[in-house]
Amino acid sequence: MRMRSKPWAKPELEACPFFLRHPEQQKGRWHEWFPEEGAIHLELGCGKGYFIAGLAPLHPELHYIGIDLKDVILAPAKRVIEAAFDGKPIHNVALTGHDIERLREIMGEADQVERIYINFCNPWPKPRHWKRRLTYPTRLEDYRMLLAPQGEIWFKTDDGPLYRDTLRYFEEAGYEVYWTTEDLHADPCSDEITVMTEHERMFSEQGIRIKAAKARVLPRKE
Ligand SMILES: C[S@@+](CC[C@H](N)C(=O)[O-])C[C@H]1O[C@@H](n2cnc3c(N)ncnc32)[C@H](O)[C@@H]1O
Repeated sequence: MRMRSKPWAKPELEACPFFLRHPEQQKGRWHEWFPEEGAIHLELGCGKGYFIAGLAPLHPELHYIGIDLKDVILAPAKRVIEAAFDGKPIHNVALTGHDIERLREIMGEADQVERIYINFCNPWPKPRHWKRRLTYPTRLEDYRMLLAPQGEIWFKTDDGPLYRDTLRYFEEAGYEVYWTTEDLHADPCSDEITVMTEHERMFSEQGIRIKAAKARVLPRKE
C-alpha cells in the first residue's frame, strides 16, 4: 500500500526521544537502551502503533520495541503512542525503522526477547511469495535466535490460509503452539492479545473473524 508523503514525519521522528534512527547500533544492547530493567516485547510490523499504545502505558515494567519500514508509518505511530501516554514520560517504548527480513542486522542472541507480536502481517497469498511472510519458517528461525528460553510469539490475522499455514510453520521451525482461536473476540481470553490493532478494528468491523495463536520456542534438538 502506498502511503501519502508526510513532510513532518522525518523531523518529528528525529526529535522523538523514543525513536532510533540507527537500530544496528543497538544490536546485542537493547536492554541497555531502556533506563530500567525489564523484559523486552517486540512488535514486528507495528504499523500505526495502536497495539503498543494499548499496552505500554499499562505495563511500565515491560519494554516495547516496535519495528516497521518507513517514517510515514512510524511517525503516526509515534503520535498514537504519545496520545496514549497523555503527556506522561515514555520510558518503556522504542520505535525504529528496519526491514524485518534483515532483523539479524539489528538484534542478536544477547537481546533475549521474551515475546514477539506479529499482528496482521501481509498474507502474501501467491505461493511464489510465501517466503516473504513474516511467519515463514526461515523468518521463525531468525526470531528463535533472539528469543529468550521459553520465549513466545503471539500471532493474529484475518487471513485463514495464512493462519493455517502459520500453525504448520511454527511446528516446522521448532515452536510449540499452545493456544489457538479462530474467533478471538468471541473467546473468553482477556490478556494482551485482545488489544486491538488498526487492521484488527477494520477487519472486525467488516465481520471478519480474527484468528490468533500463541507459540513458545522449544529447545533445539541435539
Ligand atoms: C497490514 S499492516 C499491519 C499493521 C499493524 N500490525 C496492524 O495490525 O494494524 C502490516 C505492517 O507490516 C509492515 N511490514 C511489512 N513487511 C515488513 C518488513 N519486511 N519489515 C518491516 N515492516 C514490515 C508494513 O509496513 C505494515 O505497517
